[in-house]
Amino acid sequence: MSFLKNTWYVVAHAYELAEGMISRKICNQDIVMFRTSKGSIAALEDRCPHRFVPLSMGRRVGDTVQCGYHGLRFDGAGTCVEAPNDDETQKARACIKSYTVVERYAVIWLWMGEASRANPDEIPVFGFLSDKEKFGSCQGYSYPRRLRLFQIYKQGSTRRRYGLVHALAPSLSFG
Ligand code: FES
Repeated sequence: MSFLKNTWYVVAHAYELAEGMISRKICNQDIVMFRTSKGSIAALEDRCPHRFVPLSMGRRVGDTVQCGYHGLRFDGAGTCVEAPNDDETQKARACIKSYTVVERYAVIWLWMGEASRANPDEIPVFGFLSDKEKFGSCQGYSYPRRLRLFQIYKQGSTRRRYGLVHALAPSLSFG
């Protein structure tokens, strides 16, 4: 399958990168992301070049990510900065692809194509996402699993909407 690469993809809410790291599959490519101590965002191929273990299964060490298998460590540019047993040859060979990312409108935009063509001016205007005066947003959605039908109607929902809720929560009971 081919994908549109030279374009910006929204890959995460900014708040998701408050700590730790997250992994996303974009254009069939696993990508691990984390925020550095300087506030920038690193986006790397989520695959250790040694034995192909997802780096997102490893751990953060300062502004780097360390593979959980044999300990190769990569900075935000994808450069290997530490190799087990200080093997300099392995360190020099073991680099991974990094991606261009931009944080704008409270979300993270990622460029999957040629880095030289990544132009942040081409990011569409999604100002409403970060305009907290005019717009509200919710992060996550929860409801009581034993929600009764009359409660849904009371909240102004239609029968059609109930069908959707029911599809998402098979144990939903009628009142
Ligand atoms: S698989 Fe990552 S260091 Fe070996």
